[in-house]
Amino acid sequence: MLTRDDRGAVLGGVPLGDLFRDGSLSTPAYVYDLDAMEAEARALAEGFGARPHLVAYAVKANSAGAVVRALARGGAGAEVVSGAELAVALGCGIAPERILYSGVGKLAGEIDRALGAGPSGILAIQMESVEEIARIEARAAALGRRARVSIRVNPGVETDTHAHVSTGHDEAKFGVARADLPAAWEAIAGAPHLDLVGLSAHVGSQLTRTDEYLAAAEVVLALAVERHAAGARFEFIDFGGGFGIDYGAGCAARPADFARAGSALLDASPLASLRLVVEPGRSLVAAHGALCASVISDKRSREGDRRWLVIDAGMNDLIRPALYAARHRIEPLDGAGAPRADAPGYRVVGPVCESSDDFGEHPFEAVPERVVIRDAGAYGFTMASEYNGRALPSEVFLRGGRVEVVQSSPGVDVWIARRLGGV
Ligand code: LLP
Repeated sequence: MLTRDDRGAVLGGVPLGDLFRDGSLSTPAYVYDLDAMEAEARALAEGFGARPHLVAYAVKANSAGAVVRALARGGAGAEVVSGAELAVALGCGIAPERILYSGVGKLAGEIDRALGAGPSGILAIQMESVEEIARIEARAAALGRRARVSIRVNPGVETDTHAHVSTGHDEAKFGVARADLPAAWEAIAGAPHLDLVGLSAHVGSQLTRTDEYLAAAEVVLALAVERHAAGARFEFIDFGGGFGIDYGAGCAARPADFARAGSALLDASPLASLRLVVEPGRSLVAAHGALCASVISDKRSREGDRRWLVIDAGMNDLIRPALYAARHRIEPLDGAGAPRADAPGYRVVGPVCESSDDFGEHPFEAVPERVVIRDAGAYGFTMASEYNGRALPSEVFLRGGRVEVVQSSPGVDVWIARRLGGV
């Protein structure tokens, strides 16, 4: 988590200003505290007590190898949504039997990659529709492999989160609707290469209370109990991810609270011996990453006495404010104290030619040279684009109070050459 002292903003024991002092690193740059991410994974695992469980880290939140390896050291497996994410998880040394693969549109080549990983494939391919059952059966038959699969159920639960990250309601494209489950059981029974090993759900992201999560978990658990009575033999039950973090407006539930609540529910059921899987992304990494940017200009308008801080990070680097009206706290990178709340308000905006390239209003005592955007470790770099001919940002990975590795920005020359058709 970002702290401040008289050296300015500090992450992972490193004053962020030090990173830019000699000019070898330029902004915009994401900085991540790998030790804190690893500790976050361990802290979550404690919520399960002694019960068998798997923390399947949702790689989409931050797919950098250094991050995935740090979380694996903290005991995590992975949840992936593409063949490329699967390759990263495997490349980071995560064992195939600790990897889940979800997504509504898996390509044949991607399914093959999952089926071919290790001696018996991955922990499970999570099937998100009745139609997908036949597709996976066909690939397994073609490869002469058995496919370990689970059904992602859509539990029909509304979550109190932004509509773009709510996935468990009846109109969502994700998962198999309850009405379609009988057809799914029948299709699986007629698929000789499939082994149904789990049941899962994921109802939304940035959940700040455990009650909606538990409501969905109860639906999945009841279904699992029903299927066991009908002869199914699950190895795991997966209540999904979505654990919220405090972006500044508060978050009542801690990640381990979700683990404890899920464990208590399962412990009290006839399926207490099943392994409990969760799929957190954001909660393991968001608070331990920051986006550093430089102030390009301090623009003023006499019209309404408006002030803007135009920075060199835009919605192409961090799209969450534009896409979900998300608010990330923004502070000066240098200088001791954070600005007082009643300091003059500046609209912090990026250089991209879109009105939504706007990070909201933030107080500043004076115009800073550089700013830091907090809680940008999840869904920051992974959602970055090159819109407007802008290079992807650099990434700096901190471990043991120093820089472990830097992934430099490719720079704009690569973009220019590709647009010209030269690469
Ligand atoms: N499992 C599945 C099947 C998911 O779809 C997701 C996230 C997760 C797990 C992890 O959810 P988390 O623990 O990170 O909330 N870009 C958005 C969030 C999109 C989440 C997509 N799915 C944001 O920046 O808020």
